[in-house]
Amino acid sequence: MSETLVSVWQAARDRLIAAGVDSPVLDARLLLEAGAGVARLDIVTDPRRLLSAEQAAAVHALVDRRVAREPVSHIVGKKAFWTLDLNVSRAVLTPRPETEFLVEEALKALAPTSPARILDLGVGSGAVLLAVLAERDLASGIGLDISADALDVARGNAETLNLGNRAEFRLGDWSTLFAEQFDLVVSNPPYVPSADIDNLAPEVSKHEPRIALDGGPDGLDAYRAIVARLHDWVKPRGSFAFEVGKGQAAIVEALVTAAGYEVLAASVDFAGVPRVVVGRRAD
Ligand SMILES: C[S@@+](CC[C@H](N)C(=O)[O-])C[C@H]1O[C@@H](n2cnc3c(N)ncnc32)[C@H](O)[C@@H]1O
Repeated sequence: MSETLVSVWQAARDRLIAAGVDSPVLDARLLLEAGAGVARLDIVTDPRRLLSAEQAAAVHALVDRRVAREPVSHIVGKKAFWTLDLNVSRAVLTPRPETEFLVEEALKALAPTSPARILDLGVGSGAVLLAVLAERDLASGIGLDISADALDVARGNAETLNLGNRAEFRLGDWSTLFAEQFDLVVSNPPYVPSADIDNLAPEVSKHEPRIALDGGPDGLDAYRAIVARLHDWVKPRGSFAFEVGKGQAAIVEALVTAAGYEVLAASVDFAGVPRVVVGRRAD
């Protein structure tokens, strides 16, 4: 039987529903586009277009991987974040919609008309640093990560987005020192309590890098290490913004306040969860 764009899409959607995948309609379309090598517009304008046996088999193979709960971002190698289309792989956390609140807070701290230096701690795919640089032509910065493989992905994204001339990437951990201090330090560090990781959706617990998730016994190890170093990284009167997990904002605010910083805001995400702690170094 010949298969068309719409019949393959429907079959994929039904298999994803049966497998308990969260967004079967969208994922089926993304897998159809990637497997058959077609664009969204082709599916909308020419749904009864016939697929070759090879195209149909390629889509079915991608759907098999999604049924096994591999994230769609890993299967297609891409994820939309902010205004950017980022390449992603198993080496990096797939950028999350809630992290766009961190980008928003970072942009509030950076005047469009002034040059600024930014440090992104735990840069991963480059999502936060590159989204900020894309919005602020006069800004430049450094992305730090403990994973060399993640840094390769971030560097590739910076080049693809023509931001490589304003973004540098360094291998290091939360004790890394730089020859300068920064106007803005941003971080979305690992913040899941270790014991909670195996209870997350299989897309996350089995496929995302553990080093990107594991925040230690209470999820707060990275914040404690980062706050301890903040004076070395943030300029006097410079700012910082940290993404936090559900229920962590008040504790992270207390950590930064106890270390002598002013907390400016804790912005709330779509679900009403305080998601970003923003603060400033006074002197
Ligand atoms: C939650 S992911 C965030 C990735 C990216 N910034 C984003 O928002 O999508 C945390 C990142 O921190 C990195 N990381 C974990 N422990 C680290 C450490 N001790 N020093 C530096 N980076 C670390 C991980 O490799 C990972 O890329």
